[in-house]
Amino acid sequence: MNDTVLEFNQVWKTYKMGTEKVKALRGVDLIIKKGSFIAIMGPSGSGKSTLLHLAGILDTPTEGTVLMNGKNIKDYSGKEQAKQRRSNIGFIFQRFNLMPQLTVLENVMLPMISPDAEKAKILLDKVGLKDKYKRFQKQLSGGEQQRVAIARALANDPYILLADEPTGELDTQNTRLIMDLLKNLNENDGLTIVAVTHNPLAAEYAKELIKMQDGNII
Ligand SMILES: Nc1ncnc2c1ncn2[C@@H]1O[C@H](COP(=O)(O)OP(=O)(O)OP(=O)(O)O)[C@@H](O)[C@H]1O
Ligand SMILES: [Mg+2]
Repeated sequence: MNDTVLEFNQVWKTYKMGTEKVKALRGVDLIIKKGSFIAIMGPSGSGKSTLLHLAGILDTPTEGTVLMNGKNIKDYSGKEQAKQRRSNIGFIFQRFNLMPQLTVLENVMLPMISPDAEKAKILLDKVGLKDKYKRFQKQLSGGEQQRVAIARALANDPYILLADEPTGELDTQNTRLIMDLLKNLNENDGLTIVAVTHNPLAAEYAKELIKMQDGNII
């Protein structure tokens, strides 16, 4: 049985800015197995977000290959990439990225391939927001907003959750709540999670720690 979800082979990512080239990733090799919970740490500019973007098919490598479930992400058309992202990958971000004009429930339903309010409610119950379906973003604490974002990320039953500094805007108490929730999703639902963080407290919840420096894993 092949339990590799993602495989990076000698991945380079170069950004061109006018005549200048930024080598954001420099030959990354990485294998992510189903059911893993990985924290990625490293200094600003070391390539953490770039790595996460490639893992989430938001971008493709300049050199080397990224395989998702054994398939080279470069072989997908733009449309297929979008379909993969929508159905198989969940994202959460530092700034939550909720739609302020939509209710909590509508935010969770938004990405659904088949909109299903009952399922959205189940997901919101799971993240502890049972009584807050009708609220708007501005009526929620930061920790609650991130919990909505987690429920939304789970809307299409992804097999991997990618998080870029998910607790970057949260206090210690909410950081613990969010990381406990991710830990539960990993342990109880077998969700594969990769979380970039600057916070050692948050990183402790993961099963594995990856450190990056100068565009590579050290
Ligand atoms: N779209 C882009 N165009 C040009 N350069 C970029 C782009 N995105 C990232 N970079 C550069 O690539 C390098 C790696 O950036 P990346 O965002 O992956 O770092 P990071 O480890 O996530 O940093 P941080 O902790 O500050 O979020 C940096 O030098 C950055 O300036
Ligand atoms: Mg970053």
